[in-house]
Amino acid sequence: MVERTLSIIKPDATARNLTGEILKMIEEAGLKIVALKKIKLTKEQAEGFYQVHKDKPFFDSLTDFMTSGPVVVSVLEGENAIEKYRKLMGATNPAKAEEGTIRKKFALDIEKNSVHGSDSKENAEIEINYFFNKLEIVG
Ligand code: CMP
Repeated sequence: MVERTLSIIKPDATARNLTGEILKMIEEAGLKIVALKKIKLTKEQAEGFYQVHKDKPFFDSLTDFMTSGPVVVSVLEGENAIEKYRKLMGATNPAKAEEGTIRKKFALDIEKNSVHGSDSKENAEIEINYFFNKLEIVG
């Protein structure tokens, strides 16, 4: 089934000039980039995006981190894109990520883990709509 998922290249990765390398891994995995932009989130925008984690102890630190520099948001399209991108990213905690994954290669720790990807079809739709309007997605 052809799906879409939202990807964020996080501030720890953009700061180290890893955007190109990460996008290359995404394309080499067979995912098509159908929308792409670099933005700097406000604290409010980061809090809105991570609402599901608002009661977690790391929420304030996470939203500070996500506003500490630019992020590159994109919409990825392909067969089973949600699961495919989650496999490519690797485990949230890079210490547990498999060889060949983005987080194994680049992530610094469980918070500064270089990339985000939607975890379900329902969340993918919400997250894509959070950052992009219809005209910005070129399927
Ligand atoms: P992400 O996939 O963007 O979803 C939520 C983010 O919160 C996660 O990646 C990490 O950046 C961060 N995160 C998850 N668990 C922890 C944790 N235990 N401590 C700090 N940050 C975390």
